[in-house]
Amino acid sequence: MSFCAPKDFFFSPENLEVAKKIMAKYPAGKQASALVPLLDLAQRQNGNWLPRSAIAYVAELLEVPAIRAFEVATFYTMFNLEPVGKYLIQLCRTTPCWLAGGEAIAQACQVRLGIKVGETTPDKMFTLKEVECLGACVNAPVMQINDDTYENLTPDGVVKIIDALARGDKPPAAFVTGCGGTCSCGKGKGGKC
Ligand code: FES
Repeated sequence: MSFCAPKDFFFSPENLEVAKKIMAKYPAGKQASALVPLLDLAQRQNGNWLPRSAIAYVAELLEVPAIRAFEVATFYTMFNLEPVGKYLIQLCRTTPCWLAGGEAIAQACQVRLGIKVGETTPDKMFTLKEVECLGACVNAPVMQINDDTYENLTPDGVVKIIDALARGDKPPAAFVTGCGGTCSCGKGKGGKC
């Protein structure tokens, strides 16, 4: 993974076609509405982070002032303005998750990885980040790793998830331990989750 910010950013030919399809969804004069999906596309092309050159490129493509693209990119925590590890662990810190033991989850992650929130492991495998509500409060505490959400977390459970990722395995989204079938993974209906 390159941690160098490219001087210039351009969509790959494939992503330029995807971008054109996204832009076509919006009426003329409303190109700014495509800022979020295009910034997301740029971030995915660039190893899960957005250099300034990519933000400026998206603004130019949409013919909106660069400052509008920078406002969007700096507002949403889904956009990473610095390089992140292969696995970006986003820990929910909002009240329901905090009341359900979010601090113990954060502590377990920090101890397992040997880093603090906001840091990346030296091997560039994991980045820990705190975010606001991930929209799954009913199954708090919750974290998101890249595009997958993990719910009903326990300190032991998050260590198992990180261990699996470090081994090269991919624990299923909503992987939890001992949730009693209340999570959204669909496996617990028979009490097997
Ligand atoms: S408060 Fe954590 S998912 Fe909503």
